[in-house]
Parts: sequence; structure tokens; C-alpha cells
Amino acid sequence: MSLNRRNFLVLLGCTSGTAALGLFPKNGLAQATAGEQKPFAVAELPYAYNALEPYIDEETMRFHHDKHYVAYTTKFNEAVNKYPQLANQSAEEIISNLDSLPEDIRATVRNNGGGYVNHTLFWQIMAPNAGGQPTGELAKAIENAFGSFAEFQTAFNDAGSKQFGSGWSWLALDKTKQLKIMGMPNQDNPLMMGMYPIMGNDVWEHAYYLKYRNDRAKYLETWWNVVNWDEVSKRYQQAIA
Ligand SMILES: [Fe+2]
Repeated sequence: MSLNRRNFLVLLGCTSGTAALGLFPKNGLAQATAGEQKPFAVAELPYAYNALEPYIDEETMRFHHDKHYVAYTTKFNEAVNKYPQLANQSAEEIISNLDSLPEDIRATVRNNGGGYVNHTLFWQIMAPNAGGQPTGELAKAIENAFGSFAEFQTAFNDAGSKQFGSGWSWLALDKTKQLKIMGMPNQDNPLMMGMYPIMGNDVWEHAYYLKYRNDRAKYLETWWNVVNWDEVSKRYQQAIA
């Protein structure tokens, strides 16, 4: 599997251009709140803060994007900017090679670079008027790997509900191009294990607590209504290519 810079940019770079073209109403579109960040920019939400209601509420999206995600981005940039040569790499390349980083920024990059990559992906794999089931090759691959879409959902939800404390539930492609489901702690990403992230659900309390309180299972169940299968399928296609 090739984890090259171009593929990463393709996978992560498609939203800001759309927003810049004015395809979304300016007054409804989430805006980055921490100004221009370098070398890694805050990705705007590709939809309005309230667009995922009633499944994910506006207040949660505002805090999640404008506070938590912006903070991860700021701390990641601060660490990277201590070593300017790192700015030549994509964020995904940087978090894929934590062992090669200077020790004084390794933990910061793991947590905040992970937070940056995870959330930048997360905004894109959700959409209003989404949900349902995948089609085509991804649908077949899910059936082959997990038996059925329903079994896949159950396993993915289990990974999220059993993840102790903060973390993510992931669907990833391993080195043999097999789909795998796993829970990972904190802001860890499958790239840190040499695997490729296809989709992930954030099970940190900041992702659901305002609306769902302590009911993570309910959030996990509801989240399927906002999954952007077009984007997830695109990631799968690019990963197996
Ligand atoms: Fe989050």
C-alpha cells in the first residue's frame, strides 16, 4: 500500500476548495476560528454546523470543530514548526513515522497530529442526508470481511463501545488489503500501525456528551445516519488502488 503524499492530499484536500467556490451559504458554513494556521490549515466543515441535526447537534459541532479540532491543529503546528523540515511532509506521513520524530515532540505529535488527521477525516466522512448502506466494491468487501453489513455495524459499534475512555472506532485496510475493525485509544490512527484508515468514529465524550450524555451506545447507533458512504467508498478505492 502506497502512503504517498499525493494520495494523502487527494484524500484530505477536497473540502476547502468547494467552500472557496461558494457552493455553500457563507452564513451557514462553519468557519475556522483560529485564523490562518501553518503548515497545516484548519479544514472548514463542508456543511453548516447544524447540518447533521437531529443526529449530531449544532452546539456539539461548534465546540468539536472550533474548539477541540482547532486546539489539536494549533498544538500540532507548534510542534512541527520547531522542526521546519517536517513541513515538507503531509500530516499523515508525519504521524505514520512517529519513531523518526525528535523525541521532544513525539508525544505532542502523536496526540495532536493524530487529532488533526483524525478530525480532518471525520468531518468529510459525515454529511447531511446521508447514511444508508455502501454500494459497489466497498459493500462487497464489507460482506466478505464481516459476513453482512449488519454484522459489520455491530462489530464497529462494539469497538467503539468497548474502547475504554477516549478514542476512536476504526475501519482500516491492513497491509494485506484486508478490512479490519479496531478500537484505538486517544487520538491514535491506524496509520501509526501501518494500516490505512477508511472510516472512523470519534468516541471521545466531546463528540456526543452534550446531546447523548453518557449514552455512548445510543450515539454510536445514531451516527450511521450521517455516514457519507460516497466519501468512505472513495477512500476505500484509493486505498486498494
Ligand atoms: Fe473529537
